[in-house]
Amino acid sequence: MDLRQKIESKQVVIGVVGLGYVGLPLLIEFAREGVSVIGLDIDESKIQKLAKGESYIKHIPSEKIAKINAMGKTQYTSDFVRSAEADVLLLALPTPLDEHREPDLSYITNTGYSLKPFLRKDQMVVLESSTWPGTTDEALRPILEESGLICNKDFYIAFSPEREDPNNPKFHLRNIPKIVGADDPYALDCAVKLYGYVTTPVPVTSTRVAESAKLLENIFRSVNIALVNEMKMILDRMGIDVWEVIQAASTKPFGFMPFYPGPGLGGHCIPIDPFYLTWKAHEFDMPTRFIELAGEVNTNMPYYVVEKTVEALNNVDKSMRKSKCLILGVAYKKDIDDMRETPAFKVMEILREKGAEVEYYDPFIPKLPATRKYQYDMSSIELTPEKVKQYDVVIVITDHTDVDYQLVRQNAKLIIDTRNVFRLYGPLKQGNIVKA
Ligand SMILES: NC(=O)c1ccc[n+]([C@@H]2O[C@H](COP(=O)([O-])OP(=O)(O)OC[C@H]3O[C@@H](n4cnc5c(N)ncnc54)[C@H](O)[C@@H]3O)[C@@H](O)[C@H]2O)c1
Repeated sequence: MDLRQKIESKQVVIGVVGLGYVGLPLLIEFAREGVSVIGLDIDESKIQKLAKGESYIKHIPSEKIAKINAMGKTQYTSDFVRSAEADVLLLALPTPLDEHREPDLSYITNTGYSLKPFLRKDQMVVLESSTWPGTTDEALRPILEESGLICNKDFYIAFSPEREDPNNPKFHLRNIPKIVGADDPYALDCAVKLYGYVTTPVPVTSTRVAESAKLLENIFRSVNIALVNEMKMILDRMGIDVWEVIQAASTKPFGFMPFYPGPGLGGHCIPIDPFYLTWKAHEFDMPTRFIELAGEVNTNMPYYVVEKTVEALNNVDKSMRKSKCLILGVAYKKDIDDMRETPAFKVMEILREKGAEVEYYDPFIPKLPATRKYQYDMSSIELTPEKVKQYDVVIVITDHTDVDYQLVRQNAKLIIDTRNVFRLYGPLKQGNIVKA
């Protein structure tokens, strides 16, 4: 039976390599289809938890893992020898920037080297990580071909970008169409049929088109967020509320799509992916002016938030030095526990540099783990009326749903609201709300 027949008859064994925010939901959905799935990750603690039916991602309930485990066709391992058992390997690996803000493909290349000794005929490797056009063909394929097997003859490769939006109640793997690209018709057909188990595949004619489409999606967001952040600053100077302006503009039934301002970009995608294209464009002597400009505007946002805080404190005869600040929400977006690239860390850093005392509250993040860049040794405070009263200013960075905003409104002296969350609650009982 060849690969296509295995996929068509649902006798395929699927390996998911990298069981993070993207890989774990992917594994769950394929497992729910009743096919054999092997989850592979170098993080042994994740493997052990999954084997016990435990989740380590807040918005993925452990019951989901327990349920697929009970079906008896899912296994977890950190041993790459077992990759040979999989007919198709889906790679959901990190693609960060390095300290020079250049693409760090080491997770992909390391995995390529780990898979190479066990690569076998008729296997297929699909990369899912967001990356520059050409990565699958130029960076991954040559490593796998060092095995002596020839790509798209002995084994196959494809690229299918991930559109997972963690904890989005409306859109998830099953109802988000998934772009699938391959440089060979048979490989494309196999990959399309495979993803057809769990979603609606959108076939494209090459891995490069699929890679570029993902970057276009994220650059589109980065540029539009920058535009609306710039509008926010201009309109604020004019004394006009950008939120009301966006609401009004959104009534146009065509040609306008609302984007909302905030304290800066966060997450593993929007602040990072555009620079994957910038890096590759240099090879072609092409400037990426929109991308750079959007990056510049968005990077400035945490500074803008602090400036507005300094001004608001000043207006109540307080200086930033020695003032007590509470950061409300440190996750990069609402209702998740992911802090990667969160603008909260930058805001906290600037506040501290200015001599403020900073604490935080986040119902999803009880402790701040050390990151490559920041070493905050802090725990979330308890949000009580007495505690809130102690702060000179409360700065809303993340608009989590599960926060008692009434309690904050009734007890805070001053609020800086970067998300317009207090629109629903009216003016402060004893102070001021400043939108920033
Ligand atoms: N998180 C999102 O919302 C999201 C959305 C769309 C696209 N993406 C893209 O998907 C990719 C994965 O992102 P993520 O958020 O799932 O990352 P993640 O950090 O949550 O997960 C990556 C996993 O890979 C594992 N890993 C690292 N090196 C490995 C190796 N050599 N072998 C096996 N496992 C290894 C890690 O232990 C981790 O569990 C990135 O390219 C990201 O840009 C993410």
